[in-house]
Amino acid sequence: MSRTDDDTWDITEGVGATALSVARARATETGAECPLYLDPYAHFFVEAAVEAGWRSPFLDEDPVRAQAMAAYIASRTKFFDDFFTAAGANGLDQAVILAAGLDTRAWRLPWISGTTVYEIDQPKVLEFKERVLAEHQAKPAARYAAVAVDLRHDWPKALRQNGFDPSIPTAWSAEGLLPYLPAAAQDALFQQIDQLSAPGSRLSVEAFGETFYSAEQLARRQERMAQARRDAVAAGGPELPDVTRLWYMEARTDVEKWLTERGWEVTATSAVDLMAHYKRPAPDDLEDPVPDTVLLDAHKL
Ligand SMILES: C[S@@+](CC[C@H](N)C(=O)[O-])C[C@H]1O[C@@H](n2cnc3c(N)ncnc32)[C@H](O)[C@@H]1O
Repeated sequence: MSRTDDDTWDITEGVGATALSVARARATETGAECPLYLDPYAHFFVEAAVEAGWRSPFLDEDPVRAQAMAAYIASRTKFFDDFFTAAGANGLDQAVILAAGLDTRAWRLPWISGTTVYEIDQPKVLEFKERVLAEHQAKPAARYAAVAVDLRHDWPKALRQNGFDPSIPTAWSAEGLLPYLPAAAQDALFQQIDQLSAPGSRLSVEAFGETFYSAEQLARRQERMAQARRDAVAAGGPELPDVTRLWYMEARTDVEKWLTERGWEVTATSAVDLMAHYKRPAPDDLEDPVPDTVLLDAHKL
């Protein structure tokens, strides 16, 4: 499962399956008593994948930790939903969702009229998504363009070929993406976003901090996962993938600082503060309860 420069994946494999895990979390949130948002399509993806043989492994080792992670994903999803809704309210009618996975914002958010939503991800991930949504007669709530390209390749060219217009302001998002990119590809990504962003553009990012990439935290996480995998095997469950092997554990550029230096006005909210804001607080008696991230909301002046 280790990474290579040109690796590709289907929805149930390696990096692709991480999109399924997020969809499963969104399906669970949608069915909760007081959900932060409704994603009526998420459960269709899980069902289709299970039908295709995906054994739906739970990556979290104990119920308290699993609940904390679910609360994190719910808060994160709500943050990006609110970001796009506010961008539309400010007149932005061009959106690009980087590494869209099984995100259904193009189908479920109240886009302003005339909006185009571009989604970038690997070809098989976007094919699976479109097929499942079509099977359930889901219709996009904006003009929709799937841009099937690897974000380590020349994605700006593919985006332009699909009609993207760099002369008008864009609302961008990068959610659940950065650890799956090498550090150099992450740097290139933000340079390209900056070049393609007209003044007035907005960018939302889940940025991972130093602790996330530290050897100490990785060792703790791998130890917990090893125990979870042993427990799963003992209980006759599926072989759990080790998600840490999909990440590039390399020192990263500080995204908030980098954007600020280039004329973006950036607001940063830590994961813990975001969860408290949405009344889904992270447990304070757990080591590493949620990933060390900040959610950035940036505005190009
Ligand atoms: C954890 S999922 C998050 C999906 C989505 N952003 C969400 O929050 O629902 C990670 C996604 O990143 C995509 N991804 C990772 N590396 C990529 C790359 N180099 N090019 C295109 N997509 C990539 C995967 O295919 C997957 O859909």
